Parts: sequence; C-alpha cells; structure tokens
Amino acid sequence: MILIIDFGSQTCHLISRRIKDLGVATEIVLPHKVLSVLKEKKPKGIILSGGPASVYAPNALLVDEKIFELAVPVLGICYGLQIMGQMLGGKVTPGRKKEYGPTICTLKSNNSLFKGLPSKMKVWMSHFDTVTLPPQGAAIIGSTPEVPVTAIADEKKKFYGVQFHPEVQHTENGSIILKNFIFRICGETSTKKNIDITQLVKNIKETIKDSRAVCALSGGIDSTVAAVLTYQAIGSSLTCFYVDTGLMRLGETEEVIENFKKNFKFDFRVINAEEIFLSKLKGITDPEEKRKIIGETFIRVFESEAKKLAAEFLIQGTIYPDVIESKGTLHAEKIKTHHNVGGLPDKHGFTIVEPLRMLYKDEVRQIAKTLKIPQNIIHRHVFPGPGLAVRIIGEVNKEKLEILRKADSIVIEEIKKAGIYDDIWMAFAVLTGIKTTGVAGDERKYGETIAIRCIESKDTMTADWVRLPYDLLARISERVVNEVFEVVRVVYDITTKPPSTMEWE
Ligand code: XMP
Repeated sequence: MILIIDFGSQTCHLISRRIKDLGVATEIVLPHKVLSVLKEKKPKGIILSGGPASVYAPNALLVDEKIFELAVPVLGICYGLQIMGQMLGGKVTPGRKKEYGPTICTLKSNNSLFKGLPSKMKVWMSHFDTVTLPPQGAAIIGSTPEVPVTAIADEKKKFYGVQFHPEVQHTENGSIILKNFIFRICGETSTKKNIDITQLVKNIKETIKDSRAVCALSGGIDSTVAAVLTYQAIGSSLTCFYVDTGLMRLGETEEVIENFKKNFKFDFRVINAEEIFLSKLKGITDPEEKRKIIGETFIRVFESEAKKLAAEFLIQGTIYPDVIESKGTLHAEKIKTHHNVGGLPDKHGFTIVEPLRMLYKDEVRQIAKTLKIPQNIIHRHVFPGPGLAVRIIGEVNKEKLEILRKADSIVIEEIKKAGIYDDIWMAFAVLTGIKTTGVAGDERKYGETIAIRCIESKDTMTADWVRLPYDLLARISERVVNEVFEVVRVVYDITTKPPSTMEWE
C-alpha cells in the first residue's frame, strides 16, 4: 500500500488514481493523521502531494518528521518536494517567476526514479516557491531554465522529489516516474482490478432501498451513467428529469429528448424552466454568484417536481474533478463552484446520491461502454451544469444567448466536419463581452468579440489547447462574422490549464 499525504493539491486524488491504475492500493490521509495511519497500515511508500500554500505561510501545513525516520521511501511532488527541502535541511525560496503549464525539464536517468527516461522531457508545473538548495545527501536529478532544482534523489535514504506533476496526463512519461517509484523503489507488486459495476449498483440499492428517487439528466455521459446504474438498482422507482434552463446550446433540448425517449426505459420527463432561470440571472455579473444562483434555482425547480412524486433521493452525475474544484477536500483551494456540487444550497429536501463521485471521466466512459450507452452520448463533449451562462461574460440575457448559440453551433459544426470532434475534450464559443470596432461594407460596426476555445484533456485536471489547422480556424472565423450579425471579431484562446480553467467562468 502507498500512503498519500494530502496537502490540498487539486491533483491529490489523481495521484491515487494513477497508482490504483497500476494495481496498487493507496490511502489518502491528512497530514495531522499520518502517524496513526502509518502504524496501522505499514505502507511500502509515502507520497507527499502538492498543495496551494507556501511553506512560508504562517500556518503552512507540515507533517511529523518521523515519516523520514521509518526507512520507507518518500516521493514529494510540488509542495511535497518543498516540504522535504525545508524539513530535511535544504532551502526553499519564493520563485523568481511563477511557472504554470508546460516546460522542458533536463534530467539525469542514472537514478532509480528517472530510469528509462530521455534526457529532456515536457513536464507540467504549477508553483511559485522552489527548492534552491537540496537537503544534504540529495543529488539534483532534474532542472528547468527557471528552476535549477526541479528534481532530487537521495538514493541511500530513498527520498525523491519532483517540482512538476508526474500524475497529470500532460507530463510526458509521468506514468514511468510513478511506476519507478512504486515498483522499483518501493518494491510493490501489481494486482489489477476493474471498476466493479455490480458493487456500484448494490451501493445505490442499499442507500435508496424502497424509496423513490429523481435524477437530474443533462443529456451528458455522467448523469446518463448515474441514471442507468440507478435504474438497474431500483427500476421504476426512478424518474429522470431534464431541466431546460434556457442556457442550453442550439437544438440541444430537442436532441436530448429524442435521444432519451428512444434509447432508455426509465421514466423521462422534461421541465421547461427558461423563464425562471433568466429572471433569477437578471443583473448578475459575478461568475460565482451566477453559479450559485443556477445551482439554487435548479434544485428548487427540481424539488417542486419531485414533491409531486414523493421522492426522497436526488441522483447526480457528479464526478471527482467537480468535487475537487469545488473544494471537496479539507486543504484544497476552491477554484469554482461546480453546479452539481458547491452550487447546491445547504437546505434542500433531498438526500443526494452521487454514484460516480470518486471517479474520473475516463472511468465513467469505461462504465458507459460496458453499459452499452449509445456512442453519441459517450462521445458528446462535456457541457457544464450552468450551461452557456458561464460562457457569457457579464450579465446573461436572451439576446446574448442567441448570439452565442449561433456562434457555438458553427464551431461545433466545423469541428465535426473536420472529423476531430471525437478526438478532443471540448470545443465551444465564448461571448467575451468585449466590444470592438469592425468595418462592414463601408461602415463602421461596433460589435461583439467571440472567443473560440478548443482543448484536449483526459482527466480534466490539466488541458492543452488544440493546434487547429489555420484553414479550419479561418473557416470558423469567416462563418461566425458572416452568419452572426452582431459579431465583428473572432479570437482563439491559446491558454493551457493551469493557469486557465477550461470554462471562462
Ligand atoms: P474547468 O472550467 O473547471 O472545467 O476547467 C473542467 C470541466 O468541467 C466542466 N464544468 C462543469 N461541469 N458543472 C458541471 O457539471 C459545472 O458547474 C461545471 N463547471 C465546469 C467544464 O465544462 C470542463 O469540461
């Protein structure tokens, strides 16, 4: 078993997930509980996760130094490396420059951690402080132009540290680093297991028993999988509702209704709530406020329908990245309030059931394939709960929604025509709220700026922008400015996550 100490990193659970994928058990523990867990579990290795704080912060999270006296290998990641640097007698200083996203690391492969790796590799960073002097006995085994001490190894004590994140998909060979640590250094062995769908269904049945449940179906893969699992568990005691918030994409509601009526046996109903949502959002410009209002309105609309059915349970397709970005663990920083997590008001009449809460998107896709959910649902791009409201910067109203819908449908249509829709995570348009000057015919035209965002990701925690061919970008731009009267300018968003998030709000 590998023990992961959670200092509040957005990717702490992802470290655990990667190791579980290798067939090795993990346990995530908070720093103040480490000693008691250590005695009981006797792990073969310890990983110190990243975290949002600085080791210099007055209440910086530290860990009992006894963990370095157990003759158990330790790997520090990001903040975890900095803790090692500080606690083991090295030096940590605020970085000269913040480093977020990809960078090239030069590394030495003459050590157990980097064995089998090339001498240069793209790695993903997200940090400010850096180790400037490694602890005594530790050699520098990796550096970047900005961070001379990017990775360290003390082969004798089996202490290792990396400033970058080997657990994220975008770090090249990250899985080799984790494998080297787990198998080569800690001496673990693999016993691989698939996700146990029968157990998921059993858990739902045991929770809901003979009561009634309602499910919020968005038409996307997460809520669909949650609904199908629940239907297997409780059959006709489940009713699924699709709430048309008025914040949906062009033709989306019609498509979802057709799809669900055709493909699924559960009781499926539509709630038209456009007017309520738009009136609640009137005058609201703050992104977090928008998210909270939408979450609140959503649950109220639901409650009133569910009351008619005397349903006690609400099934949600929340997955782990939604939880973590809404501050799902004790020390994690809140990034944004995801509609189906933090957006819910404290008081509502349901017991929430989230069968996928501990899973990542690719795991949900795997379950969906096993459940034989139609391909167009499995491959449908993720669409956030708050819908187009978080893609309209500033106040949301019908006119802006119309503009965005038209632009967005052009983006999707062209991406599909180019045959790359299934290969990417998401493609969408954003109404930036920035008005700029254009020229139409011989006249000045002061109009809207649309941004195109097109990204690839596997685990949601990191993302890179897709290098779309210029011809395709040109086609999208030409069509948007010609077909959407209000738009005079189209820009392409070329930011990675981190430091950006995928959605603009
Ligand atoms: P961010 O913008 O956080 O997005 O990098 C990561 C992924 O999550 C989706 N997203 C949401 N999904 N409710 C959801 O169900 C939400 O409130 C929400 N906010 C973002 C986003 O579309 C992207 O795929």
